[in-house]
Amino acid sequence: MKVALGSDHAGFPGKEAAKEVLSRLGIAYEDFGTHSDAESVDYPDYAQAVGEAVVSRRADCGLLFCGTGIGIGIAANKIPGIRAAVVHDVETARLAREHNDANVMALGVRNASPADLPAMIETFLTTTFAAGRHARRIEKIAALEAPK
Ligand code: RB5
Repeated sequence: MKVALGSDHAGFPGKEAAKEVLSRLGIAYEDFGTHSDAESVDYPDYAQAVGEAVVSRRADCGLLFCGTGIGIGIAANKIPGIRAAVVHDVETARLAREHNDANVMALGVRNASPADLPAMIETFLTTTFAAGRHARRIEKIAALEAPK
């Protein structure tokens, strides 16, 4: 498994913490930046880099971080094939995979507790899609992306 990582300046500490968690779990990752919190940057740039890595299968899934998780999640969801879920805790990380087959987790460094981050990441990476009735709903999401 390979994980694509990205953040803006506000999410930078979360991305750096995620790298430590992934290293501890022995999971490979690619860091698409930003590489410091000293400079204000635009979160869509990092959402695009991570989203494109996931859609092209250069990575299996993505973890994105900004202040709230909202902006970077909205931007990632503009890339066809990306299902980015803004998660707040272990429960929403689990449901994002189980019900929504999310391939990107977006986290808000200003809202989520740093202590919960390892469990949220581990839950997101290990929970499988429940399929069944949820598969029909994911197909309907994909249909919304189809050219009219
Ligand atoms: C940057 O200050 C902040 O707006 C951004 O990190 C994010 O929270 C946007 O949704």
